[in-house]
Amino acid sequence: MLKIRSGIGYDIHRVDKGTGLHIGGVQVAPDLGFIAHSDGDVLIHALIDSLLGAVGEPDIGEMFPDSDPAYKNISSQILLKKTLNLLRRKHVKIINIDCVLIAQRPRISPFKEAIKRNVAGILNIPITDFNVKSKTREALDSVGRGEGIECYCISMVRYTR
Ligand code: CDP
Ligand code: ZN
Repeated sequence: MLKIRSGIGYDIHRVDKGTGLHIGGVQVAPDLGFIAHSDGDVLIHALIDSLLGAVGEPDIGEMFPDSDPAYKNISSQILLKKTLNLLRRKHVKIINIDCVLIAQRPRISPFKEAIKRNVAGILNIPITDFNVKSKTREALDSVGRGEGIECYCISMVRYTR
């Protein structure tokens, strides 16, 4: 029987002046940065949570607690690779992923193809199966003032056995 599951993920991080803001592993602003214990890559964090959700696992903070020295300040791309190993052990394959990134600034569209290429490459799926959309917050609230960037992600997966 075909077993298909979906999972949703969400993340937000504060943004300030910095030495490089990375989203989906791609630098999108050299003069900004995330204020976070980790690298603050909201897109990868939301993506990991959506994949964990699809296979019924707890969230990123429970799976990879940053109170554990093994995970302190760990790169989000490494956590994503660990998540992919978990999916492999469960014989789960990704069908497709869709993300909404909400950032008042910087403008993401010039970097969208690079983000899609980088993340689809890590996931080892066709670029057409990993989609990113970007929105502003219409200058409303904290994200609209540029104090943070947030991301929603939905993943669809199938069990191969
Ligand atoms: O027009 P609407 O209110 O739906 O969207 P918006 O938030 O004004 O964003 C307009 C377009 O700008 C989006 O469709 C994105 O393609 C682009 N955008 C972007 O490239 N980077 C952002 N941080 C926000 C929006
Ligand atoms: Zn995060």
